[in-house]
Amino acid sequence: MGIDKTALVTGGSSGIGLAVARRFAKAGVRTIIMGRSSSVIEIARSLSGEGCSVTGQVMELSDLPAVQSWLREVPQRWGHIDIVVNNAGIHPKRQGWKYLVEEVDFEQWHEVMNVNLTAPFMICAALLPAMKERGWGRVINIGSSGARNRPVAPSAHYVASKAGLAGLTRCIAEEGAGNGITANCVAPGPVTTRLTASSSPEAIAELTRSIPMGRYGTADEIAALVEFLASDQASFITGTVIDANGGSTMN
Ligand SMILES: NC(=O)c1ccc[n+]([C@@H]2O[C@H](COP(=O)([O-])OP(=O)(O)OC[C@H]3O[C@@H](n4cnc5c(N)ncnc54)[C@H](O)[C@@H]3O)[C@@H](O)[C@H]2O)c1
Repeated sequence: MGIDKTALVTGGSSGIGLAVARRFAKAGVRTIIMGRSSSVIEIARSLSGEGCSVTGQVMELSDLPAVQSWLREVPQRWGHIDIVVNNAGIHPKRQGWKYLVEEVDFEQWHEVMNVNLTAPFMICAALLPAMKERGWGRVINIGSSGARNRPVAPSAHYVASKAGLAGLTRCIAEEGAGNGITANCVAPGPVTTRLTASSSPEAIAELTRSIPMGRYGTADEIAALVEFLASDQASFITGTVIDANGGSTMN
C-alpha cells in the first residue's frame, strides 16, 4: 500500500485517528497527521523515530479559512495526497448524555457541523482533482453508528453531521468511480477513546448492554478496517457505509 502514497489523517493525535496513522506509517505510507494541539508534532516525531515518514500538522478544523489556506499549499508542499481519512470529530454532551434538539444552541450546532462535515467537504473538494488526474484515490470518512440507528444516546447536531458525511461519501464515490477513486464511510459503534470517556457511567453501561458482543470496540479494530479500505485490496468497494459495532446492527 505504501509505495509512493501520501495519506492525510485528521484528528490523528488520539483514539481512532492515531491508530490509523500508526497502521499507515508502519505500512510505509507517508502520513500527515493533523491535530488541533501541538502534541501532534511530538507524536509524529516519535512515530518517525520508528523509521516511518510521519509529519504532524497543527490545525483547528473549525477555522475554515485556515484549513483552506493549508489546502492551497498542498501541491507545493506534498505534491499529492492519495488517501484522506476524515476522522476528526466532536460530540458535545450535556452531563455525559445527549442534548435534546431544542437544547442545541446555534453556535454549538455550527461548530459541530464545521468540524464533522464542512472541513471534510473542503478537504475532499481540494484534493479530489489531483486524485482524479492520477487515477487513484481513497477517501475514508469516519461516520457513526449514531447516524445509522435509533439515536438513543447521540445529540442531534452530531447525528446530523454524521448522516451528512455519509451523503457526502456517496457523492464522492459516484463522481470518482471512473477515476480509480473509492470513497467509503466507516460507522463505528461505541469505541473506547477520549470521545466516549465524556459519557456518564450510566450511559456507558446502557450502551454496553445493547451491544451483542457486550463490549466497546478498540481504536485499532476500527483502524484495521480503515487500512483495508485504503488498500488496493478494497478496489471494488465504494459508496458504502460499513458498520463496525459488535453486532448492534445486522443485515
Ligand atoms: N469513540 C466512539 O465511540 C466513536 C463512535 C462512532 C464514531 N466515532 C468517530 O470517530 C472519530 C474519532 O473519534 P475518537 O473516538 O477517536 O475520539 P478522539 O476524541 O480521541 O478523537 C477525535 C480527534 O478529533 C480531533 N479534533 C476534534 N476537534 C477538532 C478540531 N476542531 N480541529 C482539529 N481536530 C479536532 C481531536 O483532537 C482528536 O484527535 C470521530 O469522528 C468520532 O465522531 C467515535
